[in-house]
Amino acid sequence: MQLAIIGTGYVGLVTGTCFAETGNNVTCIDIDEKKIENLRQGKSPIYEPGLDVLLERNIKEKRLQFTTSLIDGIQGAKAIFLALPTPPGKDGSADLQYVLDVAASLSKIITKYTVIVNKSTVPVGTAEKVHEVLAAHLNTSLFDVVSNPEFLREGVAVEDFLKPDRVVIGTSSDKAKKVMDELYQPYLRQGNPIHFMDERSSEMTKYAANSYLAMRISFMNEMANLCEKTGANVDWVRIGMGGDSRIGKRFLFPGIGYGGSCFPKDVKALAFTALEMDYDFQLVNTVMQVNDRQKLVLGHKIQNYFGSNLSGYTFAIWGLAFKPETDDIRDAPALELIGQLTAAGAKLRVFDPEAMGNVKQLMGDSIYYAEDQYDAVNGASALIVVTEWSEFRNPNFDRVFEAMKHPAIFDGRNVYSLEKMQGCSFYYESIGRKIVHDHIHDTLAMPHDTIVRERGVMD
Ligand SMILES: NC(=O)c1ccc[n+]([C@@H]2O[C@H](COP(=O)([O-])OP(=O)(O)OC[C@H]3O[C@@H](n4cnc5c(N)ncnc54)[C@H](O)[C@@H]3O)[C@@H](O)[C@H]2O)c1
Repeated sequence: MQLAIIGTGYVGLVTGTCFAETGNNVTCIDIDEKKIENLRQGKSPIYEPGLDVLLERNIKEKRLQFTTSLIDGIQGAKAIFLALPTPPGKDGSADLQYVLDVAASLSKIITKYTVIVNKSTVPVGTAEKVHEVLAAHLNTSLFDVVSNPEFLREGVAVEDFLKPDRVVIGTSSDKAKKVMDELYQPYLRQGNPIHFMDERSSEMTKYAANSYLAMRISFMNEMANLCEKTGANVDWVRIGMGGDSRIGKRFLFPGIGYGGSCFPKDVKALAFTALEMDYDFQLVNTVMQVNDRQKLVLGHKIQNYFGSNLSGYTFAIWGLAFKPETDDIRDAPALELIGQLTAAGAKLRVFDPEAMGNVKQLMGDSIYYAEDQYDAVNGASALIVVTEWSEFRNPNFDRVFEAMKHPAIFDGRNVYSLEKMQGCSFYYESIGRKIVHDHIHDTLAMPHDTIVRERGVMD
């Protein structure tokens, strides 16, 4: 099938590439000329595991094209996917300007029946709005508007797209339903379902799913904070709870708050929809409040340890991306923490395997960008683990200890087991678990070589 994807970001590029992979002819369109130029040369603008290989193959086999021209890009397309940004407006509502502007442009250039598919995350009623905009210049027999929310997770986006748990399609048109069914069947060979429903329910499903997942995270963060006060270990609690098949194991990990380009904005947008409908959605409002508070938890732990004035201290941060296996830093908790620590006077040495470029673009040279994770800890008074990249899971702790000025680790993702940390010589504080080697706090004023000798970690 001939397809056009408008918006070639995290969702659009993965969608276009994966549709090409099953034999469709896909043109990805974007207004960012540099991005399109790089993509034409097979260079992905994002880090997404597995994407490069598919990109290269489908470009080579001429099933995947890139253009900045809307009119050229949609030529012959049976379906046009909108994978455009829907950022939060000032009031928290999803900003539909990108979606509606593109719909207006399409209304003037579509010449034959086309299915317009909304893959962006959009509030209930958007399919109707897009329909209205298109109908201003286009005969309604020439198009249908379909809602097709995307559930892929960055970091495993290709796998999620190729093997979705389910596909949700909102449409009241049989003609559009047939097109969508044909397109998605190759990805559902294991028997996972397509749920056809009305447009409004489909749009709401995406917000319900993301807000529910965010709620699980906020619940566990609250639980972790209470565990700290009661002496329980949140890891055991999580495992004990998650083993209940009614609850399930996923999205129960406590940490320093959810981030990324979706959860914060989607929860906010759902709260706004509720407000518009004059409904007080208390749970969703609380999820946001809990998350805002949780993002500050690690910074507060560090200030409790070193004092509120952090000038004179240098800290290492491992992990900047909002989660592992992505370079995405949109609403990443690391950014909030960096702001909190630098505002208190701290100097920072940061490292992330993929997200350094994006952070540098945002923050310039106000922090030190380390060569690798060990360079980051050089001379640091504490190591702060913010993103649970695999390479941080089993570091050479002796090397870390040797390089640091003071042996303290603040772990925002509970990457290390308490048993392991008992065997090392660090003060270790994590989320919802007891502190290990609390007495090391008292050695803060001691010269590092004294600490090293006393602990016998080095010769
Ligand atoms: N990132 C995710 O994990 C994810 C998952 C599911 C759903 N979504 C939703 O998908 C949508 C897109 O998200 P994303 O993360 O891919 O965003 P993104 O910012 O990575 O990509 C959007 C792209 O659209 C382009 N663009 C903007 N205006 C354009 C125009 N007029 N014509 C052509 N291109 C234009 C931008 O240059 C950019 O490349 C959002 O609504 C988001 O909520 C995202």
